[in-house]
Amino acid sequence: MTSDTNAIIRLSRSVIGEEEKAAVVRVLDRAFLGMGSEVQNFERELAAYMDTDRPVHCVNTGTSALHLAVEALGIGPGDEVLVPSITYVASFQAISATGATPVACEVRGDTAYIDVDDAARRVTSRTRAIMPVHYASSVKGIDDVYNLARAKGLRVIEDAAHAFGCRVGNGLVGASGDIVCFSFDGIKNITSGEGGAVVTGDADVARYVATARLLAVENDTEKRFSGERSWVFDVLHQGHRHHMSDIMAAIGRAQLKKIDQFGEIRRNLARGYQAALADTADLTLLDYEYTTAIPHIFPVRIGNGRRDGLMDHLRANQIQCGLHYGPNHLLTYFRTDYALPIAETLGRELLSLPLHPLVTDDDQRRIVATVKDYLNNHG
Ligand SMILES: Cc1ncc(COP(=O)(O)O)c(C=O)c1O
Repeated sequence: MTSDTNAIIRLSRSVIGEEEKAAVVRVLDRAFLGMGSEVQNFERELAAYMDTDRPVHCVNTGTSALHLAVEALGIGPGDEVLVPSITYVASFQAISATGATPVACEVRGDTAYIDVDDAARRVTSRTRAIMPVHYASSVKGIDDVYNLARAKGLRVIEDAAHAFGCRVGNGLVGASGDIVCFSFDGIKNITSGEGGAVVTGDADVARYVATARLLAVENDTEKRFSGERSWVFDVLHQGHRHHMSDIMAAIGRAQLKKIDQFGEIRRNLARGYQAALADTADLTLLDYEYTTAIPHIFPVRIGNGRRDGLMDHLRANQIQCGLHYGPNHLLTYFRTDYALPIAETLGRELLSLPLHPLVTDDDQRRIVATVKDYLNNHG
């Protein structure tokens, strides 16, 4: 396929085909749009894909998944949760929504993954959990997180928003680990429009999530999956309107069938960037391998204060780029009284290049040429 040299190349996008459209029409025609058999089937298919016996509970966003996971552990006011400063603000908001304090931690310069030594120094008597983020779909560093958690008696909530379909150890992310939360928002490795899921081997946490997503109405999941409703019920704890709908699940089910195809394209694009950008002035690749990962984003570091200039140059050439992410500990609501120098440097240097299944080889050549033209030839 050739690309129009003036067409905008998008940073990310949903890739929706006739299958997703037909699946939504099928649900619309049934005239039951809420949480029912479509969600149940999506949950079963997700578990089968991950090759796990663990239950999968689908919710309306990845943020809700994280929020319910934190709440399910009984974490709330007075408690602290360790979290890397470089992440989407969703991780921080999910923690603070419970009344707990997100404790911003340093990240590693080579991967942007949570720096476990820094996290260890921030453990106090109030620390209950650690929330590693599989930034850019890399799980490098997760073993150190579990070692720290074991040593300090912490629970682990994996923010796997970027890592659906990625491998860890001998299986897929979600098949192991304490509590794993996914996002299926519009631009993730697969989408359900908006959506998310919680996977855990802890039966109490799983039960809590199943109930709390439906306003904590007892046994409502089972009822809805058999086409009924709870009319007379009890409520034992806080609940939320966080469940997934059948319309969303229908999109997700169609997308799940395409995960291998999407994964292959994303991996090849990431490898293509790595090969083409290896020797570019002021550009440092992050230390990732794309043998099995399905990369959600492709961030690089742009040094020497040239990041913003490169962004302007890319935009002027109709190429979108992104900032994943500014450090959360510098946001007014989450501001810390301590510095995190590496996170702050990354906040000035990170720039994400277009990555989605519709980026063509020609697009990628144009992106690489534009980046190199600016970094090697300008200034
Ligand atoms: C690292 C990270 N955590 C959490 C989320 C939240 O997911 P959602 O957008 O589905 O609420 C996102 C999504 O952008 C994310 O990138």
